[in-house]
Amino acid sequence: MILVTGGAGFIGANFVLDWLATTAEPVVNLDLLTYAGNLCNLHSLAGDARHVFVRGDIGDEAHVAALLREHRPRAIVNFAAESHVDRSIRGPAAFIDTNIVGTFKLLEAVRAWWTALPAAPRAAFRFVHVSTDEVYGSLAPTAPGFSETTAYAPNSPYSASKAASDHLVRAYHHTYGLPTLTTHCSNNYGPRQFPEKLIPLMIVNALAGRPLPVYGDGQNVRDWLYVGDHCSAIRVVMAGGCPGETYNIGGDAEMTNVDVVREICTILARTRPGPDYASLVTYVKDRPGHDRRYAIDAAKIRDQLHWSPEETFASGLERTIRWYLANDSWLESVATKDYRKWITLQYAKDVSVR
Ligand code: NAD
Ligand code: TYD
Repeated sequence: MILVTGGAGFIGANFVLDWLATTAEPVVNLDLLTYAGNLCNLHSLAGDARHVFVRGDIGDEAHVAALLREHRPRAIVNFAAESHVDRSIRGPAAFIDTNIVGTFKLLEAVRAWWTALPAAPRAAFRFVHVSTDEVYGSLAPTAPGFSETTAYAPNSPYSASKAASDHLVRAYHHTYGLPTLTTHCSNNYGPRQFPEKLIPLMIVNALAGRPLPVYGDGQNVRDWLYVGDHCSAIRVVMAGGCPGETYNIGGDAEMTNVDVVREICTILARTRPGPDYASLVTYVKDRPGHDRRYAIDAAKIRDQLHWSPEETFASGLERTIRWYLANDSWLESVATKDYRKWITLQYAKDVSVR
């Protein structure tokens, strides 16, 4: 079996669902259920004995050690993290606690357990650390995309905390021989993404007739990858990646933010005709330290592991919007008092949520 951390969040839940749809191998899912973790993401697995959900903290070494002894996973995929840049700007402490100290404690528990394994399972074991392209910092408009040898230059407390965790993972391979693999993916979108990130926030706001808050001049560029394609990339890295190596994952779909928002409005106008969605676009104060551009050179994973994405940005966005339109009860499950508090704090007078 495998152990997934953070499997009640956006990418982790999609990974668990895809995993159980494509293999018979059971999953233990360790998740603290922070504001971003949502068991509704996993409701279709109710009664499926192959999925064992455990509420807990990756930073609780004794708990992780007990889980490892009990379930003896052949691999771990570490998704657990604080993941939202804007929250890291308002309150970096949780990012240090989970992304740095939490990853360290997880690595310690795994190292102790792995070291005592017999030779064969010890050699076959894999620790996959799911990181981000944001550790590489910001690109000039025409610079080539980030490759695995691009120097780290994180600019936000989020990306700095992820960079620190990557360095720890690297050191545990180099020093102790732990068979680690680190992935750096570009911006994900798809079903079950918490509506604090750009794409789901815009969908949810548009459907409610609220302003669509675009930071700064809207010309910041991100590379977008459909979440199912990220999950398939992680599976190929786990199966065929070389321990100690890192792999960049991207969708070859660079877009300015304002173009992403316009595309959402166009699809909504077709699938849920209603107000003039595009007229809701509102330019608001820029994010402090806002990275201008991210882009990925995914040649390594494509050439060595024969991975490429299946969705284009247009097809993935259409699927995503259709999922949000069909899942009112999921949207209700995330529209908590806490969520409204975040929107009010972050967008002040620009967007009020009643
Ligand atoms: P998310 O915020 O939706 O989910 C994070 C999950 O981790 C939640 O279920 C939360 O409850 C859980 N969690 C948080 N702290 C925990 C702790 N201490 N112990 C156990 N569980 C804890 O995040 P996501 O968007 O699904 O991202 C998953 C991973 O992928 C993160 O490591 C992130 O850095 C990375 N990543 C995300 C993107 C993206 O675009 N979303 C892109 C590249 C990489
Ligand atoms: P986000 O989804 O937070 O991901 P990241 O910061 O990790 O790239 O933001 C994507 C882009 O969209 C980023 O350039 C910031 C911008 N953005 C807005 O313009 N308005 C918003 O309300 C949000 C949340 C993001």
